[in-house]
Amino acid sequence: MACNIKALSLNHQILSGATAERKMGTASAANVHVVPETVSKTLPALTTLTIKAPQPERLLIKTVDRKEINNGKFGRFGGKYVPETLMSCLGKLEAEFNLVLHDSEFQEELTTALRDYVGRETPLYFAQRLTDHYKNSRGEGPEIYLKREDLSHGGAHKINNAIAQAMIAKRMGRKTIVAATGAGQHGVATAAACAKLSLECTIFMGATDMEKQASNVLLMKLLGAQVESVEGTFKEASSQAIREWVGNLETSYYLTGTVVGPHPCPSMVREFQSVIGKETRRQAMEKWGGKPDVLVACIGSGSNALGLFHEFINDEDVKLIGVEAAGFGLDSGKHSATLARGDVGVYHGAMSYLLQDEEGQILGPHSIGVGLEYPGVGPEVSFLKETGRAEFHSATDQEAIDAYRRLCKLEGIFPALEASHALAFLEKLCPTLANGTKVVVNISGRGDKDSDIVFQYKPHSMT
Ligand SMILES: Cc1ncc(COP(=O)(O)O)c(C=O)c1O
Repeated sequence: MACNIKALSLNHQILSGATAERKMGTASAANVHVVPETVSKTLPALTTLTIKAPQPERLLIKTVDRKEINNGKFGRFGGKYVPETLMSCLGKLEAEFNLVLHDSEFQEELTTALRDYVGRETPLYFAQRLTDHYKNSRGEGPEIYLKREDLSHGGAHKINNAIAQAMIAKRMGRKTIVAATGAGQHGVATAAACAKLSLECTIFMGATDMEKQASNVLLMKLLGAQVESVEGTFKEASSQAIREWVGNLETSYYLTGTVVGPHPCPSMVREFQSVIGKETRRQAMEKWGGKPDVLVACIGSGSNALGLFHEFINDEDVKLIGVEAAGFGLDSGKHSATLARGDVGVYHGAMSYLLQDEEGQILGPHSIGVGLEYPGVGPEVSFLKETGRAEFHSATDQEAIDAYRRLCKLEGIFPALEASHALAFLEKLCPTLANGTKVVVNISGRGDKDSDIVFQYKPHSMT
């Protein structure tokens, strides 16, 4: 099937799924196409994969993953709610993704890039003073470890996925990368990967986000990217990037920065981020000879959380905790707490929890952590909620600001405001945990981009 299609009608269809779909179980809405099984049937049989042993952090898929990678569904979530004309392109991408997972040349190149360019592995740091902070009057409390994704090249976990997908784009012969960014971290990561691989790069970013994260805009430009301002925030920037991609399917590649979008995007991003959890398991074994007891990560759409959690999904004794942005408070209407306050619907090509009104119109999210401002979550995150495998909580703007300041003062580390939401939840979590419980918090990014916001923050101001 040809990919050079008329952009406008497709744009409407892929972007407006939520308005057409409304609530769960109504998948036959007029402008939404449910994925046919045929695409997965044409793919290589994943069960025949042979996986060579030695390199522990290679992106190897486990037996349990194969079915899900094949059909892109996580229970009732996920799928490909896109026009038929996009199916061919997504099918090609899925086939390429499945190939690179067991292509030794790609794996070597990626392993080298993760080590020498991204700076992996990132440390699993024992936060002694933060641990002391949570000790009770008897001197007991959990031990807090920080997974230092903030030390990755570009300052966040985003580069793990960006470099891998840029390599896929190059293999597919694409010349131009389009991407959307909220906090600018995915934009910086994508721009860096494109510079390294000699790809043209256009980053779409909401006008207000460009003001809030101005330092990242400068970095993207220095890295050679064209930065396009879009009226609105990350949600509008994402829609615009998809429109741009749909208009140039033969030559451009939409490099999604998180675990949303139609299959194979969520599985692909999660797979490339799962290096975080794989390293954590090995580092925990080295440090204390066991697994972590509790993993905590912030939830924007879920890529840093799934990156940490996925390795431990089958370890039922490891507790998984995601922390959403409660903004001004869950009842304020100004938050990004999709799992706490959302309903199921279709948006940007997949079924998942979404922030939507009674009529299914997407609601504008808010968080002091710009990277958490998205009105949905990845389908796999919705699945973890529905199955109860992970639990989800939220932290307000104020709590995140306090957590940012606390980590600066106690550990000399400035966390991204996004990651500060995960840190904020420790205030509630730690008093409930037994002495010596091993807690790993994912520090998904560094917070120098947020220092102005933290300095100028006034409680309940509309920052
Ligand atoms: C540092 C950082 N952490 C977390 C997030 C949230 O994204 P995700 O939930 O996909 O990890 C972002 C998004 O921009 C980010 O920049």
